Amino acid sequence: MITQKASEFPVFEEHKIHYLDNAATTQKPGCVITAAENYYRKSNANPMRGLYALSVAATDAYEKARSSVREFIGAGSEREIIFTRNATESLNLCAYSYCQLLSPGDEIIVSIVEHHSNFLPWFAAAKRIGAKIVFFDCEKDGTLSVDTFKSLLNERTKIVAMTQLSNVFGRDYDIKTFAALAHEAGSVFVCDGAQSVPHMPVDVADLDVDFLAFSGHKMYAPMGIGVLYGKEELLDKMPPFLYGGEMIEYVTREGATYAELPHKFEAGTVNVGGAVGLDEAIAFMNRMGWERIIGAEDELTEYAFERIKQIPHVHIIGSDEPGQHHGILTFTIDDVHPHDVAAVFDSQDIAVRAGHHCAQPLHKHLGLFSTTRASLAFYNTKDDIDAFIECLGGIRGRMGYV
Ligand code: ALA
Repeated sequence: MITQKASEFPVFEEHKIHYLDNAATTQKPGCVITAAENYYRKSNANPMRGLYALSVAATDAYEKARSSVREFIGAGSEREIIFTRNATESLNLCAYSYCQLLSPGDEIIVSIVEHHSNFLPWFAAAKRIGAKIVFFDCEKDGTLSVDTFKSLLNERTKIVAMTQLSNVFGRDYDIKTFAALAHEAGSVFVCDGAQSVPHMPVDVADLDVDFLAFSGHKMYAPMGIGVLYGKEELLDKMPPFLYGGEMIEYVTREGATYAELPHKFEAGTVNVGGAVGLDEAIAFMNRMGWERIIGAEDELTEYAFERIKQIPHVHIIGSDEPGQHHGILTFTIDDVHPHDVAAVFDSQDIAVRAGHHCAQPLHKHLGLFSTTRASLAFYNTKDDIDAFIECLGGIRGRMGYV
């Protein structure tokens, strides 16, 4: 069943737009906007510092959000849920802090499919510690081979960092198998869930990943709130990332001892409004249910995929199977630069993303410089896809090609 564009997304009352840039950020339902606004209207105070009722209420709202996140991803304890600004900050925290436990010569495996946010923090940390980055290349269709992965693992492998769902291919990866193999080799496994957590159930206990990073804003929550899940025994061993207020136990002239998890990693005044919005976004997704979310996204993906394939000179990047795209359709058009493609779409009120999608090493690996990407969410409609296909079919003609 394809859902109607939900009336609960106020932005669509303001703009008659076909919004196909959901992998960059999703639109926000009214309930999330109201929850965040109500926090500031009715309950705002600095949490965890004040002994007065309003501050306690802010603390309670923040911790309730943490509890919802824990349940949403199947973590064992609230101590394992660190609030950050976004997936990028989560991965930076993990890389900066965990890599201090590494030694020179240790190896960090990153797949070539990664977003820059799952490359650059590891590059910087590896440089600081004298560790080596090992690339795990994909096939042309985005496949990551288990045999190739096994050949890269050795006793020096200490970290494997991989996305669960590519922001370019839309392909999802068998994280459970890769994590198990990493563990057998004595490595931890870091999963970038920025694109997967909004679009499929992700259970950290079932996957047995050591860390999971994701952003609120790609799953209907406000910008500025993200999550790092980490296994408690690992987070306990890790030094703090940012230093300052609220992450300490005692401070003396000589130094400091640090707060218990998760507060050790949450220095400074935290983003309660964002956390409240994320809490409501999770409730919203639970109300929608995975059957509806995945059902609509899969059906729309297949509908779009089959129509794109019929347009000459348009090439979809990645798998020939629509089921391996999860709402992400990245493509090139012969002779037309993606920026021109995006500009033509914009002239028809269709929002897509053009460029390298923060995945330059992947584009280089594929022999591409840039591409255009349409990315769907369950609230998109067949009407959005029809408008997109009609425009796509006319782009080369507009550029003077026959
Ligand atoms: N990471 C986001 C994307 O892929 C911004 O568009």
